[in-house]
Amino acid sequence: MPTGPVRAYWVGRWREGRTSAWGSRVRPAILLAVTLGAVAVASAGDDTTRTSSVFAPVSGPADAVYRVATLALAITGAIFVVVGGLLAYSVVRFRRRPDDDGTEPAQVYGSEQVELAWTVIPILVVIVLCLVTARTVYDVQGAQKPAGAIDVTIVGHQWWWEVRYPALGIVTANELHVPVSDSADPTPTFMALESADVVHSFWVPRLAGKTDLIPNRTNHMWIEPRETGLFLGQCAEYCGTQHAHMLLRVYVQPRAEFDRWVAAQRRPAAADPAAADGRRVFETTACVNCHTVRGTVATGRFGPDLTHLMSRATLVAGAAPMTRASLHAWIDDPDRVKPGALMPAMKLDAPALDQLVGYLATLE
Ligand code: CUA
Repeated sequence: MPTGPVRAYWVGRWREGRTSAWGSRVRPAILLAVTLGAVAVASAGDDTTRTSSVFAPVSGPADAVYRVATLALAITGAIFVVVGGLLAYSVVRFRRRPDDDGTEPAQVYGSEQVELAWTVIPILVVIVLCLVTARTVYDVQGAQKPAGAIDVTIVGHQWWWEVRYPALGIVTANELHVPVSDSADPTPTFMALESADVVHSFWVPRLAGKTDLIPNRTNHMWIEPRETGLFLGQCAEYCGTQHAHMLLRVYVQPRAEFDRWVAAQRRPAAADPAAADGRRVFETTACVNCHTVRGTVATGRFGPDLTHLMSRATLVAGAAPMTRASLHAWIDDPDRVKPGALMPAMKLDAPALDQLVGYLATLE
């Protein structure tokens, strides 16, 4: 505890603070803002699989993004605190007072040392951030594909994700299933990213940084998740009316579970005789021009592959749950479920629509 004149000064400042605007309003407001900020950062680190926070990475490239982001935040945060602190101090300490005599304050300029310092320090900071970022980009892009890697091709469409496993002969939509990777026997997933129309961006924050899907170009990204669970992503580049309804679900599964999923997806489509009427409606409607159901006349690629439609959790890229009711509403009037969607209304009468939904519901 300081004594004598120093202590008297601070006690005086404290008493003054309690009665001034600074002490009664400004200081509590700043404390509240800092507390709320800290709470927001802490909850962003919450590691339930439902969060999509970049502050909770569980995979190769996301770790690297997290490290660079933390370093950049620490450096810029320190600069902010120093600059903001000095500014706040000056504003309060040298504010206009009632007994101000209106004369100019002392003018201080022309210090070579100070000018050199505030030129050189920012340059050094920028160089450090550039080098760290360049090194991270180089490491992520230069990663070698190990023998056990899974290959996936992802094609962005307005407004859904086509997911193809060329080596496994599987095609699905809006859901990516990958095995969890064990550092002793790595099984990362290497993705080729393409677009059927406009620029989209693949972003699953806990697994990897953003990578754009660009027409007439193939980009590459990889993930190496070390935890199982469901990780949510989202198209991260404005791509038209329904950009916000272009959700992505990544299921990271234990190897045995992933293998079971692969086996189920490779099976031919169900051919339930009870749904023969609905299948006839499907095969004689324009559905077949855009959708594929393996083993039928439907071989279109403009819309999602429906061979195992009901194995997916959501319909219309996350805009609705995969239920008979939402299938019914979607086929009846796509524009009502997802305004602007490129699927046309087929104008089926009620019995035909019921039969069609009945058939689609068998495609497990
Ligand atoms: Cu696709 Cu935004």
